[in-house]
Amino acid sequence: MEPLEPDIITTKTKELTVEEKQKLEEQNKRGFVPEFKANKLEIDAQRNWDIFYKRNETRFFKDRHWTTREFQELLDQAKFGEKQTLFEVGCGVGNLVFPLLEEQTSEEGCFTNERFYFYACDFSPRAVDFVRSNPLYDPTHITAFQCDITTQQVHEHIPASSLDVCTLIFVLSAIHPQKFVDVVKNLWKVLKPGGLVLFRDYGLYDMAQLRFKPGNKIAENLYVRQDGTRSYFFSEEEVSKLFLENGFEVITNSYVHRRTLNLKEGVDVPRIFLQGKFRKMNL
Ligand SMILES: C[S@@+](CC[C@H](N)C(=O)[O-])C[C@H]1O[C@@H](n2cnc3c(N)ncnc32)[C@H](O)[C@@H]1O
Repeated sequence: MEPLEPDIITTKTKELTVEEKQKLEEQNKRGFVPEFKANKLEIDAQRNWDIFYKRNETRFFKDRHWTTREFQELLDQAKFGEKQTLFEVGCGVGNLVFPLLEEQTSEEGCFTNERFYFYACDFSPRAVDFVRSNPLYDPTHITAFQCDITTQQVHEHIPASSLDVCTLIFVLSAIHPQKFVDVVKNLWKVLKPGGLVLFRDYGLYDMAQLRFKPGNKIAENLYVRQDGTRSYFFSEEEVSKLFLENGFEVITNSYVHRRTLNLKEGVDVPRIFLQGKFRKMNL
């Protein structure tokens, strides 16, 4: 995917065309997914992600090489000279953490500019196994563990008020909206005062949302994919409110409109992501 033009950063929600409004209305034609099925999707959430990694192994997500460009903090931490701690939540197979770890490593394999000690967790035991079997995995620099971030499990692995940075990259959208508050509260507990959450996820009316067919809608802006994994699409207001009401200040929070060209299919793909930085306040 080649970017066609510079990203547009805005807090304004996308204005829908008549055709796009019709698509969203059509999604309601067969009503929401029945309650028993929606409940089962929640019960099977871990299993469905684990099957996803069984099928796709490490091939599905691309390395997130854009993280230091988008989140300058990841580079700025070096200025302080002291090693920082970074926790990647819902790490999948480590597409964010390993590129960062690699940047810290010289060609000879020794650690040059060691900025971070990394923690990484995922719901799926298989994903965590992939992280642990990566050649760059070395417990003196990274600890990966299986955990459901909506529960208290995380506190068994990370001391309270100890982290400098937490990343939530395309993770909250995979979690049921009723549990968003639990996730944010958990991150608040493990971050130091002043610690940061770096967030990037699907924005409201992203093309992936408009593409869902009738019968896949679980609730407003929440959908199920064919493989049983779920995807939520976020508005700027609700994410700001979520963090503000749970002990964070909002540093930035905006939609990123990005047009990319899919060379293989020859189509112009407009994407909308929501990207934010939130700082833990002392309560
Ligand atoms: C869309 S993938 C993104 C993976 C990775 N962050 C990336 O960007 O490549 C969502 C990830 O969140 C994980 N996940 C879903 N629910 C979770 C939960 N309750 N606790 C921890 N991880 C979860 C899934 O297993 C999956 O690996």
